[in-house]
Amino acid sequence: MLLLAHDTPIEWTEAVLADFDAFLQDHAANERKASAAAMRLAVHHFDVPHLVDAMVEVAGEELEHFRQVYEVLRSRGTDLGQDAPDPYMTRMHGLMRKERKSQFLLDRLLVFSLIEARGCERFGLLAEVLEPGAMKDFYAELTRAEARHRGLFVRLARELFASDEVNDRLQELVAGEAEIAATLPFRAALH
Ligand SMILES: [Fe+2]
Ligand SMILES: [Fe+2]
Repeated sequence: MLLLAHDTPIEWTEAVLADFDAFLQDHAANERKASAAAMRLAVHHFDVPHLVDAMVEVAGEELEHFRQVYEVLRSRGTDLGQDAPDPYMTRMHGLMRKERKSQFLLDRLLVFSLIEARGCERFGLLAEVLEPGAMKDFYAELTRAEARHRGLFVRLARELFASDEVNDRLQELVAGEAEIAATLPFRAALH
């Protein structure tokens, strides 16, 4: 199950390819933020060892993705670019219930899995349209990595919460994510 209720139209890739350097800068920022978010989750739940183990692993993988994108940027004579707010991420964070610690954890795991699912979907689209070569292979590889992360976050949610609670909340968040993804304009960015 891909977890997404809205398919990104192929036109999104046109916005990306129109300014690929800007896309790469945004992509690097996303990997860096994914790594930091995983570490924050680990620290907030230091008393759940298998969650900490998984988040330390994810944080390392996302930082490695960041390093790889940074190398691509360097090879193209481009810098990291200025940090900019990402409206998709802001709105995804807005979906999380933050009042109770257990609800916040469930929502974080499920929202992260949806963010991974959207990244996986869009990297896959990009891998499809890129000409054969190193960049196409890179995005195909990232598609597989983000698919694993998507699965991992849902699995953690299912290990820590009752399955009815996970299913009900996941349904709501899938709908929320689809609405966000469908309404944001395309730009040379992951979201
Ligand atoms: Fe990543
Ligand atoms: Fe990821």
